[in-house]
Amino acid sequence: MSLLNKSALVTGACGGIGTGICQEFLGNGVKNLALVDLNPPDPKLLSNWSEKYPEVVIKFYKVDVRISKEIQNSYNDFCKSIHQLDIVINCAGVIDENSFSRAIDINLCGTIGSTYTALEYMNNGGTIVNIASVAGIHPLSIMPTYSASKHAVIAFTRALAHREYPGIRLIALCPGGTDTPLIYQQYETPFFQKMDSEEVSEIMGALKFQSVEIVAKAVLDVINKGINGSVWIIEQGKMTEHHSLPLRL
Ligand SMILES: NC(=O)c1ccc[n+]([C@@H]2O[C@H](COP(=O)([O-])OP(=O)(O)OC[C@H]3O[C@@H](n4cnc5c(N)ncnc54)[C@H](O)[C@@H]3O)[C@@H](O)[C@H]2O)c1
Repeated sequence: MSLLNKSALVTGACGGIGTGICQEFLGNGVKNLALVDLNPPDPKLLSNWSEKYPEVVIKFYKVDVRISKEIQNSYNDFCKSIHQLDIVINCAGVIDENSFSRAIDINLCGTIGSTYTALEYMNNGGTIVNIASVAGIHPLSIMPTYSASKHAVIAFTRALAHREYPGIRLIALCPGGTDTPLIYQQYETPFFQKMDSEEVSEIMGALKFQSVEIVAKAVLDVINKGINGSVWIIEQGKMTEHHSLPLRL
């Protein structure tokens, strides 16, 4: 599927992986791009993009994905100005083992809310990619709540895909450790401080961080070849399809 002249909305667009995805989309010809994030984009990057891609309409929406009204308003405003919404990437996420309800609200409820909103606006079909994690496939002992939230993102994506919305593909992509601020921010928090530092270093070392560019290209790849309900892993630069137990009903 070519991205040429497509319209895409990305949540968590101003973080490490989100920025990489937006960069990849711009390089591949999107026409309209919505950056949905709690934090604004780097103004220098935004002006670089505007100079390099003057034909692309890029809009930033300050949204907390926990607040449905804010999600609704951003979709509503973006979709008013475009022909059709083709692609949504739900990428907003946090690791917060100290405040488990915050982590679940953002990673899971935020993804669910944005996915249901996308379905309302994708009248002519489209592709929704939910960014989960390898921690959503193999539970990660140093991040139990994060792991639980990402397992749930995969379960939600697969279950909803099974309902078969006409013309819509729902896909989950699970990155392995990726070089962004996400994990480093956690080192100083009480949950991590209480853990054995050698064990944390050992687990973190095993994650072998890949670049955001690799994950961004994987997003493009799954948009191209992922079938509805498929789950993909991108870890240490290698992409594989993950096959879980089938749905019961
Ligand atoms: N970095 C990794 O190793 C890794 C691995 C697997 C999966 N992931 C997932 O990839 C996604 C992006 O993570 P990242 O590594 O780029 O982290 P990041 O911290 O660089 O980016 C996360 C973005 O989400 C935004 N965000 C946080 N809370 C929000 C909220 N309530 N409403 C709207 N936006 C909010 C932040 O402002 C930030 O821009 C996350 O879902 C994360 O769980 C990351």
